[in-house]
Amino acid sequence: MQFLSRKETRNKIVILNPKGGCGKSTIATNIAACYASRGMSPALMDFDRQASSIAWLQRRPTDLPQIHGIDAHKKSMQATRSWQLRVPSDVRTLIVDSPASVTHDDLRELTRDSSSILVPVLPSPMDIHAASRCIADLLLVAKVNRNERKLAVVANRTRKNTKSFAQLMRFLDSLGIPIVAVLRDTQNFVYSAEHGIGVHEMQPSRVRPDVKQIDTLVDWLDRWEDRRKRAIEISNISRQRVSPSAILQKNSASGPTSLY
Ligand SMILES: Nc1ncnc2c1ncn2[C@@H]1O[C@H](COP(=O)(O)OP(=O)(O)OP(=O)(O)O)[C@@H](O)[C@H]1O
Ligand SMILES: [Mg+2]
Repeated sequence: MQFLSRKETRNKIVILNPKGGCGKSTIATNIAACYASRGMSPALMDFDRQASSIAWLQRRPTDLPQIHGIDAHKKSMQATRSWQLRVPSDVRTLIVDSPASVTHDDLRELTRDSSSILVPVLPSPMDIHAASRCIADLLLVAKVNRNERKLAVVANRTRKNTKSFAQLMRFLDSLGIPIVAVLRDTQNFVYSAEHGIGVHEMQPSRVRPDVKQIDTLVDWLDRWEDRRKRAIEISNISRQRVSPSAILQKNSASGPTSLY
């Protein structure tokens, strides 16, 4: 029997894009609120020194389902780093909000043991450029394996039927990386940030399209174990696959044989 460590059985979702203001904290807090409303008691870890997600948690009404907050930016003199970053053992879903501008070391650290990585992108030429650099760094520096299919994009603050939206969707299509949600530009997200709640916890008639997109996103996130299993299968198959030159060498060593 194979025993899996807690890290391997935990759904660690990282929201990352060094471009400031693209919606990392908005998406992190709304995913956390969605999991909380599903009774999952998630943890929300904030690496940003602005601590927007932690401040959101502090504003959260006490009668709503609980979310465990971890202020990862604050470095304590009294506790070791691993003690400071510890996640309660019963937490199965960890959402990580990251700061704007991260070093290559931060990138590797943040994405370690992740099951999904979400890159929010805004529809503007500067943001599209920043997102393509971020994705390149994730693939080349953090060595995110494309086979694992854990990398996805969230188009944020979109306005349908605009030129910038069409440009963003063309760019995202060209990446071959899934677009797992398209969030509209709406004051609902501003309201949710101000009140420590997620769109799932707001009046349904007001937020229906927003809830639908967050649900689609969370459904994709929930399939992380299937994606990981598939990636392991693919890497096993490619390891077993004998290269054509190895077949030729084997055949020439054992004399001529027909391939048919
Ligand atoms: N879909 C949206 N519609 C309207 N406003 C939004 C939307 N998404 C985010 N915002 C607003 O945009 C601002 C920036 O969002 P947010 O703080 O989530 O970005 P961030 O990437 O976490 O920023 P930083 O890099 O500074 O941490 C906030 O005021 C937020 O309320
Ligand atoms: Mg933020």
